[in-house]
Amino acid sequence: MGAQSAGPSRVPLVIDTDPGVDDAVALLLAMASPEIDLRAVTTVFGNVGLETTTANARRLLTLGGRPEVPLAAGAARPLVHPQAMRADDWHGGDGLGGRADTLPAPGPLDRRGAVELLADVLRATDTPVTLAPIGPLTNIALLLAAHPELRPKIGRIVVMGGALTGGNTTSTAEFNVHCDPEAAHRVLAGEPVPLTLVPLELTMGCAVDGHWLDELAAGGPRCATLAGVIEHYRARSRTAHGVDGVALHDAVAVLESAVPGTLRTEPMTLRVDCAPGPGRGTVLRTEGADAAGARPVDVALGTDVPALHAEILRRLRTLDQR
Ligand code: RIB
Ligand code: CA
Repeated sequence: MGAQSAGPSRVPLVIDTDPGVDDAVALLLAMASPEIDLRAVTTVFGNVGLETTTANARRLLTLGGRPEVPLAAGAARPLVHPQAMRADDWHGGDGLGGRADTLPAPGPLDRRGAVELLADVLRATDTPVTLAPIGPLTNIALLLAAHPELRPKIGRIVVMGGALTGGNTTSTAEFNVHCDPEAAHRVLAGEPVPLTLVPLELTMGCAVDGHWLDELAAGGPRCATLAGVIEHYRARSRTAHGVDGVALHDAVAVLESAVPGTLRTEPMTLRVDCAPGPGRGTVLRTEGADAAGARPVDVALGTDVPALHAEILRRLRTLDQR
């Protein structure tokens, strides 16, 4: 790959993803965002198995009109212990709300594998790249373990994951971190790379309502396909929470990647509980001696939610205005 540079003020971005319904929104949002120079997509196990997340990501790039973006598959399992649970109850057995076959056929797959593709993108760039992991952090941990020399090529990492006040997988653990706590600890606590964490309490507070979803469905054929993918998750949310709304967790992280400063953040030093037991996968704030050696990360605590809703919808609708 030849040296690449982004256009004026564009953000070179790689998304690491486990599609996943909200991942689908995030990927299309990235393709709808003019600030984003989407350099590659890498896939990881998570909501569903790697083969399915990979096929889904390939379909989504085609749906968004970007089948040429290099896409490679990564880790099929966590670093150390087996994945404790998937999320196919929320995302459907096909990972896309039972609607995977309403999307275009999967586009091409890069045979390099996720870590090699990520490393090649970082070697080739002359502008630091933003990494947006919106699934388990296994691929990112592997990249940083195998290629520490490439850290300076990473502008920042914008992670959707973790929870500071209550989990969605256990009472204290968020799904992406719970899938691979060891990888999450390495990335959140052990790597001297600038990092913004977009935690569950922030993303739950950014849930969109039925009116927003209906507006999306009316946006045109691509938006209608995406709205169809969301329906299963919407129904599950009604059952689980008794509300007509959907938390588009991963899309919040991608909008922050495209427009830095969308989210209000506070620096914190963190660690992840990797011990077996009920606390496994919990993100913990550290202070004093407990924080020794950890660099602070910027934890997103708030945003202008109506503005965020409007901006995500506006961007997605441009996909049908091309
Ligand atoms: O906890 C939310 C995260 O887990 C999101 O990335 C969603 O896709 C699920 O994987
Ligand atoms: Ca995800």
